[in-house]
Amino acid sequence: MQRGLLWDDVEWDEELKQNAEEKIKYNSQALVSEEEQEKYETEANQFWDKFYNIHENRFFKDRHWLFTEFPDLCINSEPNEDENTSENISNKASAIQEKERINIFEVGCGVGNTVFPILETNMSSNVFVYCCDFSEVAVSLVKSNSLYNSDRCCAFVCDISSDVWEVPFEENSLDFILLIFVLSAIHPEKMQYAVNRLAKYLKPGGEILFRDYGKYDMVELRFKPGRCLSQHFYVRGDGTRVYFFSEDEVHNLFTTAGLVKTQLYSSKRLQVNRGKQLKMYRIWIQAKYMKPLDSS
Ligand SMILES: C[S@@+](CC[C@H](N)C(=O)[O-])C[C@H]1O[C@@H](n2cnc3c(N)ncnc32)[C@H](O)[C@@H]1O
Repeated sequence: MQRGLLWDDVEWDEELKQNAEEKIKYNSQALVSEEEQEKYETEANQFWDKFYNIHENRFFKDRHWLFTEFPDLCINSEPNEDENTSENISNKASAIQEKERINIFEVGCGVGNTVFPILETNMSSNVFVYCCDFSEVAVSLVKSNSLYNSDRCCAFVCDISSDVWEVPFEENSLDFILLIFVLSAIHPEKMQYAVNRLAKYLKPGGEILFRDYGKYDMVELRFKPGRCLSQHFYVRGDGTRVYFFSEDEVHNLFTTAGLVKTQLYSSKRLQVNRGKQLKMYRIWIQAKYMKPLDSS
């Protein structure tokens, strides 16, 4: 029995917007107390530790859509099968060693649902993936994955909203920084600071690739009153937080950090649950911002 249907890139009209605004007005009428807000901020990593202790690597799915949405991450040039003689393979291996390394940094990597698909997809290219999370539990799950290989990957603990960052790379050294559903998890007042700092580590010509929740996504509309921290910012039942972005906010964050837009759009997908006669909209914002070649 077919229970659900999906439509991509649906039109979003005034009526839908008004409907969403009403739901948000309703769920944001009372804000979480300041005392509790303080706890969600200071203990944020512990709430994520608890999350990963419960779900381990079973919650998030591997981000295989990554290569359709961000084809730049498919750095491999697939080898021609006729060329796979042992001599050619060893020649290729040394050619790869000689090729300049492509440095990718994933921030808020969780248990590696993005990291491992990137490593697997780019087996024969000189890709090195740095990844961090502020949850020690998440980082140790990445490191204990059988696909983790310290010759190609380095996972470390870092809180991008804190003043002190200890990172294993230099400024101007990264080709790509991935922000996949991570900025939405930090306090809106700390986002600009984090993006400014990340931009320093990009090479001139390097890019930040961003995908995250958009304003009016069904997850935002489903929050019950009592979970709102500030406008479009909520806390889930497990203490983890989530922000819903507008395109303008995303644009301002990256351009204020000195980056230049190469892509910015909202993707809207309609999900229909026939059983419950429900229409729900998934809204994500996707963006690519580049560090200008003449900056350092
Ligand atoms: C929604 S999950 C997304 C995980 C992963 N990027 C993915 O798409 O599967 C958000 C992740 O960001 C991490 N995170 C939240 N705030 C962070 C911070 N201030 N510094 C580093 N990581 C953070 C959380 O621990 C969590 O693993």
